Amino acid sequence: MTDTTQSPTPSTSAQSLDVFSSSTKEEQQSQIAIYVYQSPIRAWHWLNMFCIIVLCISGYFIGSPPPTLSGEASDHYLMGYTRFAHFAAGQIMVYLFLGRIFFAFTGNKYARELFLLPVHSQEWRNGFLEQIKWYCFANNQAPQFVGHNPVAQCIMFFGFVLPAIFMIVSGLALYAEGLGMGHWLYNVTDFMLLFFDGTMAIHTYHHLGMWVIICFIMLHLYAAFREELVSRQSMISTMISGWRMFK
Ligand code: HEM
Ligand code: HEM
Repeated sequence: MTDTTQSPTPSTSAQSLDVFSSSTKEEQQSQIAIYVYQSPIRAWHWLNMFCIIVLCISGYFIGSPPPTLSGEASDHYLMGYTRFAHFAAGQIMVYLFLGRIFFAFTGNKYARELFLLPVHSQEWRNGFLEQIKWYCFANNQAPQFVGHNPVAQCIMFFGFVLPAIFMIVSGLALYAEGLGMGHWLYNVTDFMLLFFDGTMAIHTYHHLGMWVIICFIMLHLYAAFREELVSRQSMISTMISGWRMFK
């Protein structure tokens, strides 16, 4: 295993790291490893995942409540606990997201990839096409990338970052309704009523946003497991240890 932490390749593409062309048997069996995801990114990823699972389950039951239980509502407090779980996970997600934005400025260049799509870069666009071909089974070898592959980057941006921002703002606007007019959070989020025709519309689009995020999760899991198994680079273990291994 070669430790290249000192000077990772400046290019996003790791084609030059291909070790299959190495001559000796020892070289062919060696692996290149690059430290990509710093610990705050990994911690954010898994904590954020936990919050989103809680938010999707509790949100689903807020939108489609279970049948009424017998007895005093306050005795079992089922919807109370469901809503509490939603609001608690929602607020943790907000702080985690703010922390993730802060780390995009202070972390390494891979920490910024989630928020920036370098569409002006020819190399990035070529990588995008190569990755599409690989996903369509039109290439027999996966292209290698040190950070996110360009297709994953696009899906993460449009399928997670933008919907997550919408979920946060709309969720806070709904929460502020409970706090009442005059509360600072109500004053900050009532601009949403300029875009949506009343609270019911915000509820509906907040609900729809959940299904957008669930579609992202399904694609994301398929891609993460598929790339872990059949591409020539580590994937899931990279989000655990931070190191990308090239086989
Ligand atoms: C609610 C569920 C999940 C969400 C919303 C989510 C979201 C994300 C996001 C936003 C990133 C980009 C990280 C960054 O650049 O800061 C990412 C990366 C990643 N996620 Fe997830 N994730 C979820 C669950 C999972 C699970 C269960 C796995 C593995 C089994 C996983 C594996 C990965 C891997 C391997 C990467 C890095 C991909 C790469 O190196 O290009 N994720 N995820
Ligand atoms: C990925 C993140 C989230 C998902 C998947 C999600 C999902 C949902 C769903 C499905 C509903 C029910 C909507 C309906 O049919 O009326 C809901 C309601 C709500 N959500 Fe979220 N939500 C998320 C984030 C947030 C955040 C960050 C907050 C703010 C802290 C928040 C606050 C609320 C509030 C206040 C309600 C209304 C509760 C009620 O009327 O009893 N949500 N959410």
